[in-house]
Amino acid sequence: MERTFAIIKPDAVERGLTGKILDRIEEKGFKIVGMKKIHLTRSQAEGFYYVHKERPFFNDLCSFMSRSPVVVLCLEKENAIADWRTLMGATNPANAEPGTIRKDFAKNIEENSSHGSDAPETAAFEIPYFFNSFELVG
Ligand code: CMP
Repeated sequence: MERTFAIIKPDAVERGLTGKILDRIEEKGFKIVGMKKIHLTRSQAEGFYYVHKERPFFNDLCSFMSRSPVVVLCLEKENAIADWRTLMGATNPANAEPGTIRKDFAKNIEENSSHGSDAPETAAFEIPYFFNSFELVG
């Protein structure tokens, strides 16, 4: 079994899409082993996205991620990292496959409704950034 980290981003939570996205997650066979709704501070968003700190979109991204609440998730499944990325679709919704979360719900490349770890090492940083061991129930 593999675990990945996911975020339902502010643009999706604001539009009342949390339930629809959770439904897709469970329908695809992911087990939700951790979940909470939080309002990130700007510095928490900066710490989470520190790998992007030199990118031109970093400031806007951190403002967006801290403007209203998000739902953070730890998901478990065989092949969870790749399968969650497939279910989300491409970062830019314009390039996302039909039926993916980003194609159906995302507003643009920044307000793209969801996040997922891109590799096991990333998941190993991202999961404990938000969850302690008592908050993960397998
Ligand atoms: P995410 O998968 O959370 O990883 C980094 C985020 O930066 C990405 O989703 C988008 O929300 C945001 N972003 C904004 N502009 C870009 C861009 N040009 N390329 C990649 N990510 C971008």
